[in-house]
Amino acid sequence: MSGTSAVIPAAGRGERFGRGSNKVFAEVAGKPILAHTLLAFEKCRMIDDIVLVVGKHEIIDARKIADTYGISKLRAVVAGGNHRQDSVENGLAVLDPSTHIVAVHDGARPLVRPETIVATIRAAEEFEAAVAAVPVIDTIKSADSDGFVASTLDRSNLWSIQTPQTFDKNLLESAYSEARKTGFYATDDAALVERLGHRVKLVMGCYDNIKITTPLDQDFMETRLNSMQINSMLRTGFGYDIHRFEEGRKLVLGGVEFPGEVGLEGHSDADVILHAIADALLGAAVLGDIGRHFPNTDPKYRGISSLVLLEHTAKLIADAGWKVANVDATLVAERPKIADKASEMQEKIAASLGVAPDQVSIKATTAEKLGDIGAGAGAACYAVAAIFRS
Ligand code: CTP
Ligand code: MG
Repeated sequence: MSGTSAVIPAAGRGERFGRGSNKVFAEVAGKPILAHTLLAFEKCRMIDDIVLVVGKHEIIDARKIADTYGISKLRAVVAGGNHRQDSVENGLAVLDPSTHIVAVHDGARPLVRPETIVATIRAAEEFEAAVAAVPVIDTIKSADSDGFVASTLDRSNLWSIQTPQTFDKNLLESAYSEARKTGFYATDDAALVERLGHRVKLVMGCYDNIKITTPLDQDFMETRLNSMQINSMLRTGFGYDIHRFEEGRKLVLGGVEFPGEVGLEGHSDADVILHAIADALLGAAVLGDIGRHFPNTDPKYRGISSLVLLEHTAKLIADAGWKVANVDATLVAERPKIADKASEMQEKIAASLGVAPDQVSIKATTAEKLGDIGAGAGAACYAVAAIFRS
């Protein structure tokens, strides 16, 4: 049973993108653009199945992408035609007979949100035809053939049209067959339905649901997709560690040595900051704690630099499919003052984790002479970390 289907035309040549091949296969924010788009529909609970349209020679690659990213709703991958309209028509031809609503969405719009897809489906159930759109921001003027302004249009009535464009299947099929009969081509699906004299409902979309068209769109998309991924699959973890000071040992905090300062006692280099961070990361990924991964009974960890342990922790996190979003740690100690070395620590930690220094924050406070830490017996550290699925 498939009530609501998506048809995703992705068979263009991406000429304006200038990559020399279909832009939807380009990687942005760690995945092919097409994967981001497919995942948006996979995650949308109101979509039952997906028909993907790509170039004839891209079918195998497209199937691989769908497999890699677990697109369980994929019904068919078919070859497109010369124009977008031909590609959509080829997709419509293989819909399940039980489909009654079809959402057509450009493969090159990976930023679409599930809420927008749902809003067009609900509107199509009521009005038979609905498109995602946003009010235009710029003033729009028409031009004459000499390149002068012919008129200024009334902006209050103007909308930029996006996809999804969602329709009652019978209505959309009639519109496509009428267009085919008369050789009519338009730049979107709604225009074919409008031509039948049918009303099309405008549904408020999002300004960031852009179609990747030129290389200039790539940076914007990279940033937006990264933050959407972070928002949708974010986990946090907490870590704590404490060590006592011991004469005769060197002091290492956040991967940085403090010559002349009394060190901390421990099996490794006793870097209390890195231990708290590693525990926060492992906790976020539900991978246990550093004691489990780096037992202090194992001679191979004796005196080891905790940067090595942190690097190994980063690998465990990555193997489990996570990327580090940020870490934040607070050292609690009466001494030493770390402010001068905090940025060096941030750089070292970031390098071990494979992230940028501005994803790492290191702070410190004293215990105001309260308790054992306040008496200078040792140092403790609290850390939180956030990780996201990549
Ligand atoms: N599309 C398609 N079949 C075509 C042309 C376009 O399926 N014959 C798809 C594109 O892959 C894209 C969407 O329709 O997902 C919108 O088209 P557009 O942004 O114009 O993409 P391209 O045609 O690939 O780009 P260009 O026009 O710069 O070549
Ligand atoms: Mg095109």
